[in-house]
Amino acid sequence: MSRTAARFALDPAFSVGDVDPRLFGSFVEHLGRCVYTGIYEPGHPTADAEGLRQDVLELVRELGTTAIRYPGGNFVSGFKWEDGVGPKDERPRRLDLAWKSTETNRFGLSEFIDFLRKIDGEPMLAVNLGTRGVQEALDLQEYANHPSGTALSDQRVAHGDKDPFGIRLWCLGNEMDGDWQTGHKTAEEYGRVAAETARAMRQQDWADDLKLVACGSSAQSMPTFAAWESTVLQHTYDLVDYISLHAYYEEKDGDRDSFLASAVDMESFIENVVATCDHVGARLKSKKKIGLSFDEWNVWYQSRPNPHQVEDWQEAPRILEDVYSVTDAVVFGSLLIALLRHADRVTVACLAQLVNVIAPIMTEPGGPAWRQTTFYPFAQASRYGRGRVLQVNVDSPVHETRAFGEVALLHATAVIDDATGAVTVFAVNRSQTESLPLEIGLRGLSADRVVEHSVLADEDPDAVNSLQDPDRVTPHPVDGTVIGADGTLRATLEPLSWNVIRLA
Ligand code: AHR
Repeated sequence: MSRTAARFALDPAFSVGDVDPRLFGSFVEHLGRCVYTGIYEPGHPTADAEGLRQDVLELVRELGTTAIRYPGGNFVSGFKWEDGVGPKDERPRRLDLAWKSTETNRFGLSEFIDFLRKIDGEPMLAVNLGTRGVQEALDLQEYANHPSGTALSDQRVAHGDKDPFGIRLWCLGNEMDGDWQTGHKTAEEYGRVAAETARAMRQQDWADDLKLVACGSSAQSMPTFAAWESTVLQHTYDLVDYISLHAYYEEKDGDRDSFLASAVDMESFIENVVATCDHVGARLKSKKKIGLSFDEWNVWYQSRPNPHQVEDWQEAPRILEDVYSVTDAVVFGSLLIALLRHADRVTVACLAQLVNVIAPIMTEPGGPAWRQTTFYPFAQASRYGRGRVLQVNVDSPVHETRAFGEVALLHATAVIDDATGAVTVFAVNRSQTESLPLEIGLRGLSADRVVEHSVLADEDPDAVNSLQDPDRVTPHPVDGTVIGADGTLRATLEPLSWNVIRLA
């Protein structure tokens, strides 16, 4: 037994909770090239009859996303949903204040639902509570969900969509706590309008199965954080199912060790929101538990200048087109681990975003589509992270970080598929220089065979995939990961690595 090994034990009797498939959601916003020349590009060699790029559809299916949030984001707070329905040639061109772009509305609700049908996804629709309110949310809900025989449902039928869209999951606005948001509100103002909108939408719910998300804070660092959640929930506790969380991370001032520990912040954010929700629940003497919808999370280099030349009010400008390195993918994997470790309360999560805009999939107009480094941890987690999350309490060597003090080198979680007994361990080694021996006690598990140990790591931690070299970074198999006669799994995690160890 090595003295420097990280260790934990798995026991099927001790679990965190079941993974909700909606944990593997993503986000399509009318922003930059996410929609236009991202998922939608009529005239592209792979475009289908509806103008959707089939090369992108294929990659989205491989990525394994579930619920897709739409149409924003900051965009939604100035959006008129009526602009995006009906005959395309009659749809207006509009100024999008959020991203200083021109919105052509060639892609709207019907096209989004068509996209979802092709990827087997679920809609998560945001209503505009920035420049609009209760009535417009009701109108959109009627247009989308009412079978027929009313003004707006008949309009949908006349537009060619006979069947209602059956949208269950709705966001009541976006980041209303932020002063950058069109129609930004105080917690008191937002809490009231969110409650009124939720109450009215429930009155108008034909299937009686709406799931509503109230806006939480747009970051844990917001000055109003926690007080915002408390006030908003005081108004909405009985009317909503989830409160939202948003978080983006980037390497700052060359401090890579702190960046690699970003999940420490994410986990504390989750735990603080859980505490705040439960505090409000206790005050209201409610037995109900509010779920967490982490509906924007990712690595995002907000402080880097845009390398592309962009004019104000352009259509589909090249903005937020971050290129992700191996290091970014390891941090990204660690963020996925943080979400899984809180699967009991985080039951919706959306990777922001899906294509071109801080995205795992990149495209070239008229050209190919390719996978960024971050594509791989998401695809593996979505594929193998379904089931029940087991408790993982690590005993790990630590190192000092500037932002978070002492941090464990190992960050890990494990998911069991109770139907087959298969177990998958997701693990990150945060050390930039040292391999990390790992020992896992498999107490009481029926799994006794290593199917695969896959690693994403590279001699060059800044390596990226690109149009010229789309497969520069891919995961590769690791030899030597074994289960001993004593029932202990032994593996070595490469420095700065994302690992998936599958047991059968
Ligand atoms: O995902 C990019 C932007 O980040 C979203 O529009 C907004 O909600 C957040 O600030």
